[in-house]
Amino acid sequence: MNNMIPVITIDGLASSGKSTVSKKLSKELGFYILDSGILYRTFAYLKRIGEIELFNQDNISKLIRNIYLEPTKNLSFNVLFKDTNITKHLHFEDIGHLASVVSKDELLRNALLPLQHDCIKKPGLIANGRDMGTKVFPNSILKLYFTADIEVRAKRRYDQLIKNGSDPKFEDIRKSLQDRDEKDINRAISPLKAAKDAVIIDSTELNVESILDKILELYKITGT
Ligand code: DC
Repeated sequence: MNNMIPVITIDGLASSGKSTVSKKLSKELGFYILDSGILYRTFAYLKRIGEIELFNQDNISKLIRNIYLEPTKNLSFNVLFKDTNITKHLHFEDIGHLASVVSKDELLRNALLPLQHDCIKKPGLIANGRDMGTKVFPNSILKLYFTADIEVRAKRRYDQLIKNGSDPKFEDIRKSLQDRDEKDINRAISPLKAAKDAVIIDSTELNVESILDKILELYKITGT
């Protein structure tokens, strides 16, 4: 891991605002964004299309050799599998759900570490997920942990899905988020939790702009 290039980590519950704030922060600082959920979503997708059944070292390694995180013009990463961009397949609700199941696998989590470390690029990286500050980038210069009330998070996810043309039921969304939270928090390996040195941000009643101001202030204090 390159300690000279600053990394900011944002961990937290599903739909707590990590991605939205990461994008705004990236615009302000010009940093790359690693949305680490795409890696677990990739394996969920590969399982769904029959590329992997058994998650053993051999099968995982074979697939990882065919995965490339391609930096994009808007400073995020596309997922290329066997040179094909599969990113557009990853953001469906059912893939998110399956991702929270496959992400319990310790072999997979360890095998994905180098891919994530390789995302550290100048001038900096914003890494969001569940274990960015606790496990993947323990030396990051600023660690944030996002939380928000379940009703607010379910409403955000619901609005987002409606905007994308789906027709979800609010109750299903809330249930699905609760289920994923429980899986992410209670798994044995790299569970979702705030790092000891993380700043907790409750976005229930804060808007994106005030969260951004707070983070920029915290970033300034790091003196980077
Ligand atoms: O952030 P997301 O919705 O794209 O994440 C999908 C699932 O992937 C999430 O429910 C748990 C898993 N995940 C993880 O275990 N560790 C991460 N750093 C990011 C995501």
